[in-house]
Amino acid sequence: MEVFIVKDEQEGGKKAFELLEKEFNDKDIQVLGLATGSTPESLYREMVASDLDFSDIVTVNLDEYVGLDENHPQSYHYFMNEHLLSKKDFKESFVPDGMKEEEEATSEYDEIIRQHPIDIQILGIGQNGHIGFNEPGTPFDSTTHKVTLTQNTIEANQRFFEEGEEVPKSAYTMGVGTIMDVDTVILLAYGDHKADAIKATLEGPVTEEVPASALQNHPHTYVVIDQAAASKLEKDY
Ligand code: GLP
Repeated sequence: MEVFIVKDEQEGGKKAFELLEKEFNDKDIQVLGLATGSTPESLYREMVASDLDFSDIVTVNLDEYVGLDENHPQSYHYFMNEHLLSKKDFKESFVPDGMKEEEEATSEYDEIIRQHPIDIQILGIGQNGHIGFNEPGTPFDSTTHKVTLTQNTIEANQRFFEEGEEVPKSAYTMGVGTIMDVDTVILLAYGDHKADAIKATLEGPVTEEVPASALQNHPHTYVVIDQAAASKLEKDY
């Protein structure tokens, strides 16, 4: 893993964009894996402001809440349209379909990924080390599947929902195995509340209890973190 420690989230967005641009210049990038959450927003702002041409790029998102359709303001479909997909021209974009039954939604998504192998995957990280919605204990060889969200994740994501509105209890997510198969990963994390997860991901044992720790065995992962998220690291980067 190649680690970049930046001052703050804005600098992180710039650094991540610089890495993305370099990959686009050096390789034939066709498929970009996208993530939701507040973390990738500064990168998406850089992408929107740039003159990089994405019109030949297919995007595939990591995950979606079960039961939210694409017009629901808290669905990840909606989030992606708001922050990126309606602002830049892409060839085609995929997000798991939260309105479909488990078997159909997950097998359909694995087929989409098989047809569009991911060149670069953007990742945030949950406070418990989750990537996508792969909660602790998810097998490292998992493909797209349905997950029951942990209480910790439900509480962390409550802030995006209206008062009194319930966070869905389950989601469809690419698996850890799906993520490990991508060519290049750009993992982003900002803030003190991510410091434990980043410490465990970079310096802890590789264990299914910390899904992101699988990335220690990924051949080409960039990690862009701010000083707060890096504050518990013991090694020099
Ligand atoms: C959700 C998403 C993850 C994301 C995480 C962190 O659970 N499924 O992909 O990384 O939240 O979100 P945030 O970036 O808002 O801290």
